[in-house]
Amino acid sequence: MDVATKFHDITTITNDKNENSFVTDWIISSLVFLSLMTLFVVATDGRYFGKRLIFWIYDRFGAAMYSGSSEDARWQQLAGLLDLQGDERILDVGTAVANLPITLAAQPNFQGHVTGLDWSPKMLAAARRRGLSRQVTLVRGDARRPLPFASQSFNVITCLETLETLPHPDQILREIIRTLRPDGILVFSLYKGVLTLTAALSFDWYQKQLRSYGFNLQLVQFRQNYDIIIGQRILNDKMNFDFLEPWKPISNSEKARRYDAELSKEVSSRHILYGINSQAIAYRVDNDDILFAVDVESHQYAVVHLTWSGQEEAAGFPHTTLYTDLNDWEDNCMKKDHKSLISNYP
Ligand SMILES: C[S@@+](CC[C@H](N)C(=O)[O-])C[C@H]1O[C@@H](n2cnc3c(N)ncnc32)[C@H](O)[C@@H]1O
Repeated sequence: MDVATKFHDITTITNDKNENSFVTDWIISSLVFLSLMTLFVVATDGRYFGKRLIFWIYDRFGAAMYSGSSEDARWQQLAGLLDLQGDERILDVGTAVANLPITLAAQPNFQGHVTGLDWSPKMLAAARRRGLSRQVTLVRGDARRPLPFASQSFNVITCLETLETLPHPDQILREIIRTLRPDGILVFSLYKGVLTLTAALSFDWYQKQLRSYGFNLQLVQFRQNYDIIIGQRILNDKMNFDFLEPWKPISNSEKARRYDAELSKEVSSRHILYGINSQAIAYRVDNDDILFAVDVESHQYAVVHLTWSGQEEAAGFPHTTLYTDLNDWEDNCMKKDHKSLISNYP
């Protein structure tokens, strides 16, 4: 073999080696890149992209993951924190295998209803296999879409380890608040530790968002990986002012629902409250005047003189006076009613 042939052979072997190591490097880099991307998608729960992968993971493995321990004691602790009266309508968004609905509905004296919403059919199937009482309903739905519930349907809405994983959480929050009654309670998780590096929404974020809807926030230690934020409308604090005779606050939600239902029967399409969800919050003890929170975002209130006819009324009825906020009502309605009542005392 002459020198030229030898040199050619060596060059060929070296080129083959270079080509092989280039291919190997390329494969290794791609694998590392893919693993990092998957890790990022999983760590952020698909919030930025990769939602389909996360959905597949939840749907495929979620039921096993969340059926492991139902953590009844935690949900009971939550029921205690929320001071449930027992007649509440509760919604749990991202309910997984319905641990929270099942535990809350099983509380002694609970006469209300808990709805669990989740996107994964397999999670919901696993929840159903656990046996549900009539006080629990499961709904398959995507929290990124308008929720399939009427406005102001729920007294309590929980959304744990779910909102922080979804894109546009502000829009989802708005939709959740739409379905909450004005005096309702919201419960969200606030991730702690390493989770804050990925998908978490900060306390400041919740504060900014929820304050703009009139909520007061309370932060409660709950689990190793997250605390909970309990949001309650400032309306409730304001309602703590002294009610003067003849006005009284409505503390029984069943009674409030009866007033709400009667109002919606009586208003015709020409009435100013037509199509507006209004919630009864106080009543006059000596006649049929009811104070309704009309539009929680703009803080408007209305006093409606219900006719109790159970049907649509003629134009101008039920007679209604609007107030710009609760202070306006306090000064221009409650105090005046009180004054005239006292002046009529013998
Ligand atoms: C981390 S788990 C929540 C566990 C549950 N809240 C608990 O505390 O036991 C997240 C749940 O949200 C559901 N989910 C994810 N994206 C969703 C969406 N867009 N709409 C409704 N549910 C969704 C998943 O299927 C999963 O069951």
